[in-house]
Amino acid sequence: MAAPRLAAITAVLGYLVALAALASCSTEGDILYKQRLAWKDPKNVLRSWDPKLANPCTWFHVTCNNDNSVIRVDLGNAGISGPLIPDLGGLKNLQYLELYHNHLNGSIPTTLGNLTNLVSLDLYSNHLTGAIPTTLGTIGTLRYLRLYKNKLTGSIPESLGNLTNLVILDLYSNHLTGAIPTTLGAIGTLGYLRLCKNKLTGSIPESLGNLTNLEMLELQKNALNGS
Ligand SMILES: *[C@@H]1O[C@H](CO)[C@@H](O)[C@H](O)[C@H]1NC(C)=O
Ligand SMILES: *[C@@H]1O[C@H](CO)[C@@H](O)[C@H](O)[C@H]1NC(C)=O
Ligand SMILES: *[C@@H]1O[C@H](CO)[C@@H](O)[C@H](O)[C@H]1NC(C)=O
Ligand SMILES: *[C@@H]1O[C@H](CO)[C@@H](O)[C@H](O)[C@H]1NC(C)=O
Repeated sequence: MAAPRLAAITAVLGYLVALAALASCSTEGDILYKQRLAWKDPKNVLRSWDPKLANPCTWFHVTCNNDNSVIRVDLGNAGISGPLIPDLGGLKNLQYLELYHNHLNGSIPTTLGNLTNLVSLDLYSNHLTGAIPTTLGTIGTLRYLRLYKNKLTGSIPESLGNLTNLVILDLYSNHLTGAIPTTLGAIGTLGYLRLCKNKLTGSIPESLGNLTNLEMLELQKNALNGS
């Protein structure tokens, strides 16, 4: 009598565990699928992004780690347009977000500051507007921040000075205003700083003289004093 009951209970438990696993695995897939629906994709590069699969690790342009968690999204030159959804900040193990050379518009979600494993944020050559989120300054792992050739406004956040692993900061050709933050002089790892073709004002901070690894500094085509 007890054995079949036990078997039934075991089966139900097994089912629940499977459901729970499915639910936790599918979260990152849900985020990416929601992003797929928010984009226009005329070249149909996202056709493999199928929410019926347990996780997004088999999807094209998505790479996972051994725990089936997304670490890369590679969609440069993909012909996609539309906004970046705030939910992207939930891809907690993401290291590379490569969305350059598309037609993305709207603003950069402040939630991207939650991507605390991010190494590279490449959103260059799009139509992004609005300010550079201050929250990006919390991503201590960030090495490459390339936002050039967009329509970003507002000033360069002082918080970017907290990015002490940053190697490339490229904000070239946007509509950025205000002064170059003195705090950038604290990024000892910085090798490439390109801020030209913006509307920056004020003087070049002396602190930039501290950047002993700097190989490339481009500030022209701004309204800087003494440049
Ligand atoms: C983005 O582009 C689409 C299509 O041109 C447009 O409908 C939408 O309003 C734009 N969004 C923003 C925030 O500019
Ligand atoms: C992500 O970031 C936003 C804005 O910075 C914040 O309000 C939100 O609570 C964060 N979410 C998580 C899950 O950490
Ligand atoms: C980051 O930088 C800002 C402005 O420079 C500063 O006020 C803030 O305390 C820093 N945050 C962290 C977490 O270091
Ligand atoms: C950076 O440069 C400024 C101005 O030249 C100087 O006052 C400051 O002590 C330097 N900071 C570091 C961390 O070297």
